Amino acid sequence: MHDSRETLAPAAFVAGFPIKHSRSPLIHSYWLRQHGLEGDYRKVEVAPDDFANFLDGVKSGRNPYRGGNVTIPHKEAAYRIADVRDEVVVRLGAANTLWLEEGRLHATNTDVYGFLANLDQRCQGWDAAKRAVVLGAGGASRAIVHGLLDRGLERIDIVNRTEARAQELAAHFGEAVAGHGMEKLHHVLRGTQLLVNTTSLGMNGEDVPQIDWGSFSPHALVTDIVYTPLETGLLRQAKAAGLATVDGLGMLLHQAVPGFEKWFGIRPEVTDELRQLVIADLEA
Ligand code: ATR
Repeated sequence: MHDSRETLAPAAFVAGFPIKHSRSPLIHSYWLRQHGLEGDYRKVEVAPDDFANFLDGVKSGRNPYRGGNVTIPHKEAAYRIADVRDEVVVRLGAANTLWLEEGRLHATNTDVYGFLANLDQRCQGWDAAKRAVVLGAGGASRAIVHGLLDRGLERIDIVNRTEARAQELAAHFGEAVAGHGMEKLHHVLRGTQLLVNTTSLGMNGEDVPQIDWGSFSPHALVTDIVYTPLETGLLRQAKAAGLATVDGLGMLLHQAVPGFEKWFGIRPEVTDELRQLVIADLEA
């Protein structure tokens, strides 16, 4: 069978349901332009029932892509359907990046990489921290706790609205990680060196819980994976208290790097120009 990928400019997709609001095309088309590459990165709305068929088409060449990103609600299905899974994606059980290699569909999850690379770029030396508190116990929290343990943090407290979920997630990691309900937040924040918010808490000022910022280590870093708004209520308060903050936009930008390299053959940079471009789009 003729495989149209051999003759067309390389293309990649971002598949979700819905997919309208994805910023990924903006990021990848910036890099394609910047490097003068012929190529295409497209949003594709795929209903859950059609997803396996869509990936089948990618493998057969009927859908002429070298790979792509997957987002809600396809991350677990992409993980299951892939032919080859790397260590990171196996740990998370959810894929966000796929690519074809010798006819086989490979899967990884670049959220851990994106989270760590953002902090590395914006706050050098952050990983001297030994203790962190992570708010939230969903998929994002799971990726971040993995990343923090990989970087040698010794103690992580997961605090979540639903305590049982925090405990369940913590149990998965062993002794270095503990899970708590919100009432323990005040207690675990004492002396903390890193606070990561993975929930929609703080998207509205009124949602921010009472936090005694003075009880943090003076060199503490506060970061949020939410980037709408760029400065969440949590980051605003932390900044006002004199603590270092890093917003979540960089995680979105950095998590796109490994996919671009797989599909288009160049490892792109997260430049300030790209950041400004996405900020302008968020504000439009
Ligand atoms: P993700 O994969 O993005 O982490 P998720 O699995 O839906 O998304 O998890 C969302 C997390 O944000 C959960 O920890 C959730 O708390 P519950 O486990 O109690 O549901 C948390 N969350 C969402 N909205 C919240 C809010 N308004 N206040 C506190 N926590 C919230």
